[in-house]
Amino acid sequence: MNILKLNHFCLGLAIALLSLSSCDTKNNSETSSIAKVDSLLSVMTLEEKIGQLNLPSAGDITTGLANNTGIATKIKEGKVGGLFNIRGLDKIRKAQQVAVEESRLGIPLIFAMDVIHGYKTTFPIPLGISCIWDMEMIEASARIAAQEATAEGIAWTFSPMTDVSRDPRWGRISEGSGEDAYLGAQIAKAMVKGYQGDGLSLNNTMMACVKHFALYGASEAGRDYNTVDMSHLRMYNEYFPPYKGAVDAGVGSVMASFNEIDGIPATGNKWLLDEVLRNQWGFNGLVVTDYTGVNEMVDHGVGDLQQVSGMALKAGVDMDMVGEGFLTTLKKSLEEGAITEAQIDMACRRILEAKYKLGLFDDPYKYIDDARASNEVFTAENRAKARAIAAESLVLLKNENNVLPLKENGTIALIGPLSDNVENMPGTWSVSTDVKQSISLLHGIKEVAGDKVKVLTAKGANILDDADYEARVSVFGKDTYRDDRSEEEMTAEALSIAKKADVIVAAMGEASEMSGESSSRSNINLPAVQQRLLKKLLASGKPVVLVLFTGRPLVLKWEDENVPAILNVWFPGTEAGLAIADVLFGKVNPSGKLSTTFPQNVGQIPIYYNHKNTGRPLEGKWFQKFRSNYLDVPNEPLYPFGYGLSYSNFNYSDIKLSSTELKGNESLTVTVPVTNDSDIDGKEVVQLYIRDMVGSTTRPVKELKGFQKVLIKAGETKEVSFTITTEDLKYYTYDNQTDRNIIYTWEPGAFQIMVGTNSANVKTANIIWSE
Ligand code: BGC
Repeated sequence: MNILKLNHFCLGLAIALLSLSSCDTKNNSETSSIAKVDSLLSVMTLEEKIGQLNLPSAGDITTGLANNTGIATKIKEGKVGGLFNIRGLDKIRKAQQVAVEESRLGIPLIFAMDVIHGYKTTFPIPLGISCIWDMEMIEASARIAAQEATAEGIAWTFSPMTDVSRDPRWGRISEGSGEDAYLGAQIAKAMVKGYQGDGLSLNNTMMACVKHFALYGASEAGRDYNTVDMSHLRMYNEYFPPYKGAVDAGVGSVMASFNEIDGIPATGNKWLLDEVLRNQWGFNGLVVTDYTGVNEMVDHGVGDLQQVSGMALKAGVDMDMVGEGFLTTLKKSLEEGAITEAQIDMACRRILEAKYKLGLFDDPYKYIDDARASNEVFTAENRAKARAIAAESLVLLKNENNVLPLKENGTIALIGPLSDNVENMPGTWSVSTDVKQSISLLHGIKEVAGDKVKVLTAKGANILDDADYEARVSVFGKDTYRDDRSEEEMTAEALSIAKKADVIVAAMGEASEMSGESSSRSNINLPAVQQRLLKKLLASGKPVVLVLFTGRPLVLKWEDENVPAILNVWFPGTEAGLAIADVLFGKVNPSGKLSTTFPQNVGQIPIYYNHKNTGRPLEGKWFQKFRSNYLDVPNEPLYPFGYGLSYSNFNYSDIKLSSTELKGNESLTVTVPVTNDSDIDGKEVVQLYIRDMVGSTTRPVKELKGFQKVLIKAGETKEVSFTITTEDLKYYTYDNQTDRNIIYTWEPGAFQIMVGTNSANVKTANIIWSE
C-alpha cells in the first residue's frame, strides 16, 4: 500500500487495510484480497455497500436513453462504485480525488468505457475482426486497445461482445463475431487475453466484460431488444460457447443482456446468472447490468422498480448500470425482508474484489499518467498495426477476370458516397475514437499508389435518398456528408469522370450507424439510390470494382450477378483507406473469410451453415415437392460461412486419415494437402468441420471444429494437419428424454470429417469412433 495515499483514507479503513497488507505475498494474494474485502466490508454502512453497486454514466458519451445527475455529490456520499462514459484524464483524476479524498471510506472508483474495437487507434468493427481467423492478430488488437485506454484512465471495458447472431437484419450483428459458436469462442478467448494480458495488477491491462449474457443476438425478426425464445439444447450448443470461452479465459466481468430468456429477463434470471454462469461454469467475477437493464424489467412486465431491483440482486447481479434501481430501493427491500444483507454483501464483495485485483486500492491513480496519455495513444506504431490488421479483415467476394489487384498506372474513377468519407470509416461503437482523424479511401489510394495513378473522384450519390432515414443514421455526431444536389446532377458528374477512367472503384454501402445498437433494417439491400448509380456505372462499359462498406451481411444478389469484383470491407477502422488500398493494389493479398452467411434474399433469414438436416432434407436438385425448400429461391446462401477469395488460387487434395476406425481415447490425425496454384503468395484459412451422423438428440449437418490460417507460397503445396480427440466430438444432450437434464458428452458411432476452403466446399472422409 502506498503510504502517501494513506492520509486520504479514513482511519478505520486504513488500519484495517494496513494490518493486512504486510502478509500480502504473491502466493497468498487471493486469500489476502478476500481478507481485505472482509475487513473493508466490516467497516462499511449499508448505504455505502449499496453505493458500491451503483454504476452511473458520466454523460460525456451517450450510449443510452437515460442519464445520471448529481454524480459528484453521490461520489462524496459513497453512493457510486464506478463511472463510465467519462472522457479525459483530468475529469477522471478529479472524480477519483472526490472518491478517495472526500468520501468517508475513500474507496476508489473504477472507470469504464465501451472500448469495443480499439480505443483511439481503431480496428475494424468486430464482425470484420472475426473474418481474420488469426487469433494472435485478434488478441493483438485487444492488447493495443487496452494499452491505449488504460493510458487515458480506463480500467474496465465492456467488451468482448460475443452474441452469436444469424440475423443480419439485427444492427448489432456488426458488434459480434458472427454466426458460429466455435469461432466465436476462440475469438472471445483471444480478446479477453488481449485486454487482461498478464494480469490485472499491471497498469496497461484492463478488466474485460463479456456481453450480452445471453442470447441477445437471437432477437425475433432482427429487431433490437426484441423477445428471444429458444430451447435449452440450442442455448448450450449454439449460443453459449462464446460466453463460456470468455469465462474459461478468466474474464473479470459479465454483462447481462436486455432480452428475456425462458420468459424471465436476463437481468433477473437466476437460472442464467447463478446456475449456469456461476455454478456450472465457475465464474467468480462481477456481473453488471446493461444500460438501465434493471429498470427495463418494469417494461418487460415482471414487477415495479423495487421488485425488479430485488429480483436482479437475488438473481446474481452485482452492479446496476445507470438506472439506480439498486441505489433507491434495496434498503427498503431489506427492511421489508424481500432481500438479505448477505445478498448485498455478496454483490459489494465482488465489486471490491475486482478493484483489489486491478490494484486500485494500492494506487487509485495507477491509470492516471499524463506521460502515458501523450506517448502511448494513437501512435504511429499502433496505427501501422491497425492498418495491417484491417487489411486482413477484408473479404473478397468476387473477382471475375482478375479485375483485382488494380494496376498501378492509368486513371481510376473513385465514385460513391463512401469515397471521400472520413467519419464513417471507424464504424459503429467507436466512442473513444476521434473519427475526424480516420483515413478515407481517396486518401488511402493516393498515398498507396502515389503519382503513378491518376485518381478522379465524385460522390455520385448520397448514402440514402430519404433524408429522414439518413438523419436517423447521422447520430453520435458522425457526418454522412449529405449532398443537396439532385440525383441527376450527381450521376452526371460521376459518369463524366467514369468516361475518362480505365477502371471504376465504386465506394458504396451503409453509413456506419446503419448498423450497431438500435439500427435494425428490414431491407438489407444496397440503398436504392446507390444501386441506381452502380447500374449506370456498369453501363459505361468500364470495369467496376465495388468496395462495399457494411456493418452486416447485405443482400447482394444483383451485385453478384452484375459487378465483376466485390471487396467487402466492413468498417475497417481509423486506417481504413490505407488498408483497403493495400488490398486493391495487391500489396496485401486478401485472406478474410466470412464469419456470417450472406443470404440470397431476406426471406431466407435465419440462414446459417450448421443447420439441422430435418426429416425431409432437400437431396439433389431444387425444387422438390414435399421436401424442405422454397418455391422461389434455392436453399443455398449467396456466400456461405467461411467463404472468401484470394488473389492466389488454392486447390485441396483428398483428406488423408491416420485411421478410419478409432476407439475411446485414441486420436485422429486429419491431413489435407493444399496447393497454391498461382504465382502469388497467399494466406488460406483451412477449415475443419465434423458431422456426427447419429446422436441421442439431432445433430447439425456440420460444425466447425478447427481452422488454421497458413501462408502458402506461390506454387507450393502445404500439408495441413488437425488432431481430433473425443473432446471435439462432445456436445450437449439430454441424459434421458423425461428428465431432460443436460449433459456434455460424446456418443460412439459414425462421423464425417470435412476439410475445405469454406463451409460449402469441402473434401469429405468417413470414420467410425467406438467406445
Ligand atoms: C449497450 C452495451 C453498452 C452499454 C454501455 C448499452 O446500450 O447495450 O453494449 O456496453 O450501453 O454503453
